[in-house]
Amino acid sequence: MKSIQDIIRQDIQAMKAYPVACVPENVARLDSMESPYDFPPAMQAELGALLAKAPIRLYPHIDHDDLIPMIQKTFRVPENAAIATGNGSDELIQLLCMLVAKPNAKVLSIEPTFVMYQTDARLYGMEYISVPLNDDLTLNLANTLQAIEQHQPDLIFLAYPNNPTGTPYDRKDVEQIIQAATGLVVIDEAYGAFSSDSFLPQAGTPEKLLVLRTFSKIGFAGLRLGFISGSLNIIQELKKIIPPYNMNQLSLVAAKYAMTHYDWVEQNINQLKMEREIMFAALEGMTNVTAFPSEANFVTVRVPDAEKCFDALLSQGFLIKKLHGSHSLLNNCLRITIGSPEQNKKVIDILEKNIS
Ligand SMILES: Cc1ncc(COP(=O)(O)O)c(C=O)c1O
Repeated sequence: MKSIQDIIRQDIQAMKAYPVACVPENVARLDSMESPYDFPPAMQAELGALLAKAPIRLYPHIDHDDLIPMIQKTFRVPENAAIATGNGSDELIQLLCMLVAKPNAKVLSIEPTFVMYQTDARLYGMEYISVPLNDDLTLNLANTLQAIEQHQPDLIFLAYPNNPTGTPYDRKDVEQIIQAATGLVVIDEAYGAFSSDSFLPQAGTPEKLLVLRTFSKIGFAGLRLGFISGSLNIIQELKKIIPPYNMNQLSLVAAKYAMTHYDWVEQNINQLKMEREIMFAALEGMTNVTAFPSEANFVTVRVPDAEKCFDALLSQGFLIKKLHGSHSLLNNCLRITIGSPEQNKKVIDILEKNIS
């Protein structure tokens, strides 16, 4: 008889599960870029009535649903680009890795960035190449281009803006990376709604350029809906490996409701962008603190003692992300999701008192 240890892959046994912090309900989660805004009661009631009528006895048929045309219109995806949806953009990241995972295939990204690029590349047996950011968390273009030339990666992931740094990259640098790429390039715009720039209008042009988006950061993390747009040829191949019926009827109804009320969603996005600037200015104004410019719905900051600030915030009801210890470029760094104006104000007050 084989033991479980004999049966399950050694590399998976050596892995750690994606860390999700467990906190009491009275602690505000400012650690994973969720929106602080719920639908107001009248909209909740309207959505509730729609959800009650959702055809949950039936499998969803994405290709015969109005979800894709609505995404195309709401996010202004170019007419000639095709779209595929995933159960969160996480699922699409994994499937993109599966799509290119031939023997000796390589995946490239920068470091630090969203951890799932590396996790998924390795899960599919690929070599993962990472190019460190500069000390100020900006892109090192020369090293990235050199790594592309040396490794000829089949897939490049570039989070634009980047997580966990929030930093935007120079658009021209990204264009050079796309041009130099030997394989597919995925511009992951999970935070694109909060950024002043986007590659979505270029999705599919050139053919190897794919743009990934998610509903998670704009108010709907619970729906688990991400989408990717790109050339028809590539999206058609990707669709072959998307699990059948990977979306669910309740999410589809809620996502369509959200898109029908996208002016409300945009209002919240604009509010969060304004709040981000207030948070950034307050952090930047504190002595011995470095706030990194952010185009996302969070601000990453270096403080004299990350542990102390993290603990102080947690003890007063705010969970943020302690980046310290996750990468050498992130020593004493914290990532703070932008919350409601009241939450942000309290976070600033607590930090002010704990930074000396
Ligand atoms: C850059 C980036 N891409 C993708 C994701 C995954 O988002 P989701 O699976 O919720 O769409 C995240 C989540 O934090 C992220 O930061």
